Amino acid sequence: MDDKLMLMIPGPTPVPESVLLAMAKHPIGHRSGDFFKIIAEVTEGLKWLHQTQNDVLILAASGTGAMEAGIINFLSQGDRVLVTTNGKFGDRWVEICEVYGLNVEKVTAEWGKVIDPEAVRASLEADADKQIKAVIVTHSETSTGVINDLETISRYVKAHGALMMVDAVTSLGATSVPIDAWGLDVVASGSQKGYMLPPGLGFVAVSPKAWEAYATAKLPRFYLDLGKYRKEAAKNSHPFTPPVNMFFALQVALGIMRAEGLENIFARHDRLKNATRAAMKALNLPLFAPDSAGSPAITSVAPIGVDAEKIRSILRKRFDIVMAGGQDHLSGKIFRVGHLGFVSDRDILTAISALEAALSELGYENFTAGAGVAAAAQVLTQ
Ligand SMILES: Cc1ncc(COP(=O)(O)O)c(C=O)c1O
Repeated sequence: MDDKLMLMIPGPTPVPESVLLAMAKHPIGHRSGDFFKIIAEVTEGLKWLHQTQNDVLILAASGTGAMEAGIINFLSQGDRVLVTTNGKFGDRWVEICEVYGLNVEKVTAEWGKVIDPEAVRASLEADADKQIKAVIVTHSETSTGVINDLETISRYVKAHGALMMVDAVTSLGATSVPIDAWGLDVVASGSQKGYMLPPGLGFVAVSPKAWEAYATAKLPRFYLDLGKYRKEAAKNSHPFTPPVNMFFALQVALGIMRAEGLENIFARHDRLKNATRAAMKALNLPLFAPDSAGSPAITSVAPIGVDAEKIRSILRKRFDIVMAGGQDHLSGKIFRVGHLGFVSDRDILTAISALEAALSELGYENFTAGAGVAAAAQVLTQ
């Protein structure tokens, strides 16, 4: 049925109607006093969300643009960087670094497993003459639904002295990313995830230590030169023509988030994750990420005895629910349930009951009808 589409992919995520309506207004001039006021307000809101006093800069870019900005502004060709990768997005950091001629050392884990912080520590301790300039971590690895132990890794990075760069694309707005408390230097994210916005904006939080590195970094940069954004942000302005209607939307979305409160937002995502995982267990559908490292934004499921793509197809065609498939070598092997941003308890119950119906239709017999819904409901009503 048209207009009934329910996005349960890890981005783009559902957008509240008030946010969509804010975007339907006429654009205003980006050099007007009214727009400067909006920039001031949203910048303040972003600092609140990022739990930081650092600069949080707004780019007309997707998450990858924000990530690339993080690389090119603070590093130089030939610099040694330690990149952790346990999935597609960790691999993307490796690719970006290599494109810019950085000297990449990797700490890897199998897809579906968590990065071992001790392996990061060992690499850093082996670097006695402090050649490693930055450590890059994908906090929530969207391709697998694993959340990495950023807090511990960041402690080791602080002890070494390298810059701590973070892909928080599917963790910001879903779980606590306390930038100042954890000492994160560069943190990239994108609007179509926990922000409850359509795609279009990228965000980069930058610490004073990263700005010091900026002063000597030599990679070429123009549109993504963050110094330009910092200079203009100090005047509540923007270096280029920003997507002003996305700023209207950001203003409303941040208002919704402030009304809910950070702790409640994080608790809701945790509850949605726990309910989804409990349901999958009750349906005897194996979870791809371990309980100790399940992302609050995405749950990946590796079904046995029933085809992941057929499940997705029925959910889409019969119930207008879109779940994500596996990426790269996980294509056809897993499906991924996005539960970040504007997602409520009701959405999870709806998705799990539709999933049960799809499983029945596919002849999957390894579950008791209603078991998934009951397990999810129990978590949600605790
Ligand atoms: C962890 C992570 N990093 C980076 C990206 C790339 O973001 P974008 O597609 O907005 O460029 C994504 C997108 O899904 C992501 O989940």
